[in-house]
Amino acid sequence: MSIPALPLPEAADGSAVEMPLLGFGTWQIRGESAYRAVRTALDAGYRHLDTATMYGNEDEVGRAVADSGVPRDQVFITTKLPPDHAGREDATLTESLRALRVDAVDLWLIHWPPSRGRSAAVWDRFVALREKGLARAIGVSNYDVADISELSSSAGVTPAVNQIRFGPTLWDAGLVRAHRDLGVVVEGYSPFKTTDLGDPALTGIAEAHGVDAARVVLRWHVQHEVVVIPKSSSAERIATNFDIGGFALTPDEMAAVDALAQRH
Ligand SMILES: NC(=O)c1ccc[n+]([C@@H]2O[C@H](COP(=O)([O-])OP(=O)(O)OC[C@H]3O[C@@H](n4cnc5c(N)ncnc54)[C@H](OP(=O)(O)O)[C@@H]3O)[C@@H](O)[C@H]2O)c1
Repeated sequence: MSIPALPLPEAADGSAVEMPLLGFGTWQIRGESAYRAVRTALDAGYRHLDTATMYGNEDEVGRAVADSGVPRDQVFITTKLPPDHAGREDATLTESLRALRVDAVDLWLIHWPPSRGRSAAVWDRFVALREKGLARAIGVSNYDVADISELSSSAGVTPAVNQIRFGPTLWDAGLVRAHRDLGVVVEGYSPFKTTDLGDPALTGIAEAHGVDAARVVLRWHVQHEVVVIPKSSSAERIATNFDIGGFALTPDEMAAVDALAQRH
């Protein structure tokens, strides 16, 4: 099935940027397992990959994309600048592009806020490198809303995305609304690590739809229009995690999953 995508601000060359709501996370997979996992994900239908300089697997991700036969413009690739590379933005992005074997990444994120006071200078380089066409969209990760507002007003360019730890137990309608009010897409990470997949509220809904609890969690993100990037090294789970198009959660089921946050 095709996964819905969210529009991000257009790239510097005026082309549209569309971010698929479901992507494949690659943290803690390296070497040949990373290559195999990404090939498996692309074969299963994922068209959105999440990596980072810090993950040490950009080379394998790039090789897997190149070998997959999937046209480059059909895969949305995110990578991230480590905060201790503040001041080395250009060299770091050049190295990411070389390893990934691409002319531009679709999304480049500041992985964590750099030490105090350096965010604005790093963001200025992000804006400049986006202007040069080396990143189609730029954003941040692990930022709070106040820091995003500050960045936006200092540079006049708002991060397109904030990638944050997220999942049903962290559901916060106010936080999501605050991002939307600023025009920032919320991307959630660690959907399973933040969730008890054995929780009866999830297994009950899963049973009603003939799926597993993991898929309920992923479907819940997509219906909230929160981007989600599950990681797996198992070929079977890579495929099942992508298979969330055949059912929809009812408003009551969405509310029951939202309510998991009140128990934590
Ligand atoms: N920006 C940041 O600071 C940041 C931080 C953390 C993560 N991330 C990104 O977000 C991605 C996802 O987060 P994550 O890797 O921390 O955690 P995650 O995707 O929540 O969880 C991965 C764990 O869940 C297991 N799993 C996968 N599918 C499953 C299923 N269907 N049923 C049960 N267990 C399942 C995996 O085991 P198997 O591999 O054995 O299937 C693995 O142990 C990362 O890979 C990374 O790309 C970003």
